[in-house]
Amino acid sequence: MSSEQNNYHVPVLLHECVEALNILPDGVYVDTTFGGGGHSREILKHLSAKGKLIAFDQDADAKQNLPSDERLVFIPQNFRHLQRFLRAEGFAKVDGILADLGVSSFQFDTAERGFSYRFDGALDMRMNVNSGRTAADILNQESAATLQQIFGEYGEVRNAKTLAEKIAEVRFQKPFKTISDLLNVCEVVMKGDKHRYWAQVFQALRIEVNDELSALKDLLEQSAKVLNPNGILAVITFHSLEDRLVKNFMKTGNFEGEHIKDDFGNIERLFNVKTKKPIEANAQELKQNSRARSAKLRVAIKR
Ligand SMILES: C[S@@+](CC[C@H](N)C(=O)[O-])C[C@H]1O[C@@H](n2cnc3c(N)ncnc32)[C@H](O)[C@@H]1O
Repeated sequence: MSSEQNNYHVPVLLHECVEALNILPDGVYVDTTFGGGGHSREILKHLSAKGKLIAFDQDADAKQNLPSDERLVFIPQNFRHLQRFLRAEGFAKVDGILADLGVSSFQFDTAERGFSYRFDGALDMRMNVNSGRTAADILNQESAATLQQIFGEYGEVRNAKTLAEKIAEVRFQKPFKTISDLLNVCEVVMKGDKHRYWAQVFQALRIEVNDELSALKDLLEQSAKVLNPNGILAVITFHSLEDRLVKNFMKTGNFEGEHIKDDFGNIERLFNVKTKKPIEANAQELKQNSRARSAKLRVAIKR
């Protein structure tokens, strides 16, 4: 791996993912979150000349990391359209799907993208900068009630109501534009540890801006449709809202985690779960990459 790619993003749980995918050399695999391409490059190493890898990323910046490899097809789209774009490329079924959710280090560390409270950039937070509303748009346009819901549900911000009301009050004088505009408001209302509070607020906004939970649900449902029997679904999550959806869906085929029975009382299953407990980074990886701290890998086999 070149140092440039390394700077873009260090892949988490790399060997665990590739092992979990149990790659068939002539198989068809999908990396739904290409990013710096760390996982993709490792998958390619296990494929024969006949194998194929289809990689998605909705961020145009990810294209700079594409290796020149005829077995790789890159689709610069949201993975929520997985089935449609696979079909368009002539792949009705695939043998394995990987998702490494969230943002890359490159996105996180690029001030203008607005993902991190460490910099004073524009309040953007869109993974695809060509579509959708920015974080500033949401803060300036949504009602206090909706903002409360966003901060409460997606960030588990304890005083979500107070924060939402303060935002609705402040934006009348000056619309939100930059990260410091938001941090200044947080400063007035926040409770507890400052960094933890900011992290919760930023997580909530990022999830809303990118509609992350709905996109994940779409991806999971379509994965069940496009995987061959015995095909593998491997998903790395970074917070409990995502992890719950993945865990429930793998176990029961729905997001509530309720077992559905057929007319004979048998439980209907889409997958056999391979990881009763999620796989987490070992001590050595944690020492080298603090981003791996909250990573949880869940794996399931299509029935
Ligand atoms: C954590 S990074 C993946 C890093 C990658 N596994 C690697 O080894 O470099 C997540 C990437 O997925 C992309 N992404 C996140 N959600 C997406 C979605 N709904 N559709 C397409 N790409 C998405 C982001 O733009 C980002 O580049």
